[in-house]
Amino acid sequence: MKTLALVAHPRISDSRLHRSWANALENTNTVTVRKLYHLYPYWKIDGTAEQALLQNHDRIILQFPFYLYGCPPLLKMWLDETLTFRWAYGPSGEALKGKQLLLAVSTGGPADSFQAGGYHNFTVEELLTPFHQIANLVGASYLKPYVFHRARTVTDQEIAESATSFVRYALDPNVPVQPVRGPGRR
Ligand SMILES: Cc1cc2nc3c(=O)[nH]c(=O)nc-3n(C[C@H](O)[C@H](O)[C@H](O)COP(=O)(O)O)c2cc1C
Repeated sequence: MKTLALVAHPRISDSRLHRSWANALENTNTVTVRKLYHLYPYWKIDGTAEQALLQNHDRIILQFPFYLYGCPPLLKMWLDETLTFRWAYGPSGEALKGKQLLLAVSTGGPADSFQAGGYHNFTVEELLTPFHQIANLVGASYLKPYVFHRARTVTDQEIAESATSFVRYALDPNVPVQPVRGPGRR
């Protein structure tokens, strides 16, 4: 299984967690790691090159900090300019059929803030629904996201442990696939 990680953190050098996750993936020497904010400082996404990379990998990881219930804007732009109509979806758009999509997300809020009545009111899974539907749309399997809470206040030891557990998860061929509509929904 060939794995590609798109890392989208606007200031990764200031992020202990995302730097550590990206380094840990790079150290495997088996995952292709692409730091979008370094690759595209002028936000000119090379959609053709990105599509070629996607076609050459089986598991696509989107790694990002949760920003107001979505991903940082360069990753949204990457999605819009890479997953194009007639290529990824729509008539004859089957380039990503059968691939796996795995999100690796950090949140500032603690786990219990992501529930009905909590500070964020919805579960992270619910808030990530647009990504789930993108996977459905392009015919990819949506894997259970790797979510790390309270990311701004963790200790160095917790960061090191999370990097180890994240890499294990990212390379695990048996990460559960989420049903097309997600658990508990009709
Ligand atoms: C613009 C912005 C929006 C954010 N929105 C949320 C949010 O909606 N929910 C949340 O739990 N954390 C939110 N955060 C916190 C980030 O998710 C948190 O800082 C990040 O996961 C930790 O990564 P870092 O310290 O490595 O940057 C936000 C941070 C920024 C800068």
